[in-house]
Amino acid sequence: MAVGEDEHVLAAARRAGLGLPSLCEQGWDLACAVRVLSGKVDNSDARRYYPEDERAGFALICTAKPRSDLRLRTHQTAAMRRHRDAHGLPAPRGT
Ligand code: FES
Repeated sequence: MAVGEDEHVLAAARRAGLGLPSLCEQGWDLACAVRVLSGKVDNSDARRYYPEDERAGFALICTAKPRSDLRLRTHQTAAMRRHRDAHGLPAPRGT
């Protein structure tokens, strides 16, 4: 799947016909969380994304732009919530 340099990964996934979870689409509620297995993303468009998230390998693809080829594991909302809880960071549960 090709993703433009300034395109969010979720938008490209939709264009490719992939149905992936999302809700807020602002990088807020963790509904679209993934694990970055390899590669690098820019998640600076997210409303709430912490250095701890990046260090743990999580990304929010509704607001993530690719900075290299990527391999991602989708459906990581629960894991990212556990990570946020473990670090005392906000982990919304409305989704
Ligand atoms: S859809 Fe809410 S964080 Fe991506």
